[in-house]
Amino acid sequence: MPVMKLLEIEMKNIAALLLVYLMVGQSAAADIENGEDLHFENCTGCHDETVYTRENRNVQSLERLGRQVRFCKDSLELTWFDEEVNDVIEFLNQNYYRF
Ligand code: HEC
Repeated sequence: MPVMKLLEIEMKNIAALLLVYLMVGQSAAADIENGEDLHFENCTGCHDETVYTRENRNVQSLERLGRQVRFCKDSLELTWFDEEVNDVIEFLNQNYYRF
């Protein structure tokens, strides 16, 4: 792979990470394992993880992923801290969405 292409991918990853940090207004790194635990304890009642990888999935950006996670969390009346929301977003992004 040409170096410029690699650089471009790297920049995209950095931009995506920055966006997550900005969205939650903090700079601590997400705890992906915690996100995974929270997700499998709370989030598989209505849909399993195949909705994240199906061909016509709804979520097409990191920003949209954040909104969707908050929407589903709120409909469950879960009271998560921003850090916990962020952990779940990062877990989903790293394992399924890859923005
Ligand atoms: C009360 C039922 C319910 C629960 C529980 C639930 N969701 Fe959802 N979720 C939905 C529905 C309905 C959709 C839309 C599915 C569709 O479009 O077919 C959805 C879609 C999603 C999507 C988007 C999938 C796509 O198409 O890209 C994500 C991401 C998501 N949920 C995350 C979560 C997370 C994180 C949790 C746990 C906090 C959670 N969901 C718990 C009902 C739920």
